[in-house]
Amino acid sequence: MTITELLGNELIIGPRIEPSSLLVYLVKYEGSDHILKVSRKNDLFDLDQMKTEQRILEACEDLKGITHLVKKYDLSKSEDYETALLKEYVAGSDLARKQRPLLPHLKEELKRTILRLHQRRVAGLELTPENVVVSSDEREVKIVDFGSGSIFSQEQENELKYWVERDYFNLQCLVKRMQRTF
Ligand SMILES: Nc1ncnc2c1ncn2[C@@H]1O[C@H](COP(=O)(O)OP(=O)(O)OP(=O)(O)O)[C@@H](O)[C@H]1O
Ligand SMILES: [Mg+2]
Repeated sequence: MTITELLGNELIIGPRIEPSSLLVYLVKYEGSDHILKVSRKNDLFDLDQMKTEQRILEACEDLKGITHLVKKYDLSKSEDYETALLKEYVAGSDLARKQRPLLPHLKEELKRTILRLHQRRVAGLELTPENVVVSSDEREVKIVDFGSGSIFSQEQENELKYWVERDYFNLQCLVKRMQRTF
């Protein structure tokens, strides 16, 4: 069964967004654009990424600066797919497609978002240009992919500290990389 056959009752499935390791589609839900991320059956990498992303999005549903979870779908009865996450869509462009230095207010906003995630003990974010989207009016910046993050428990204080530092290091690299592409 195709994704359209499985979810076509309530979603209009649009184009697949490339490149993406999981199946990521632009879809219409209740008349507006959303993102649908689908995991394939028997693909441990997919399943792991989706579980992580779901947990983080559920723990951060009120957090500013990230895309939020709208709905989960259990597709385990199908032959090819396991789960799907419907998420808010940020109309704009990811930094990989932008090729322009990050404006100072967006850099500050991104830093604040990362701090808020760290306060929730979420770290180890994959802060690559592909995973950060800037809105078309350049007023907003959002982290859209949480497949590689983790939520660290109270017992994992050292790991959390390590990944917090790594996130800030990766943020600096991201900002430098955007300056170089100009
Ligand atoms: N909420 C969103 N709004 C706008 N664009 C998005 C959104 N989510 C994803 N995208 C676009 O789709 C691309 C792929 O999505 P995403 O990064 O979530 O998948 P992925 O990299 O395949 O996942 P993973 O890293 O978990 O394997 C992003 O690089 C971005 O261009
Ligand atoms: Mg990604």
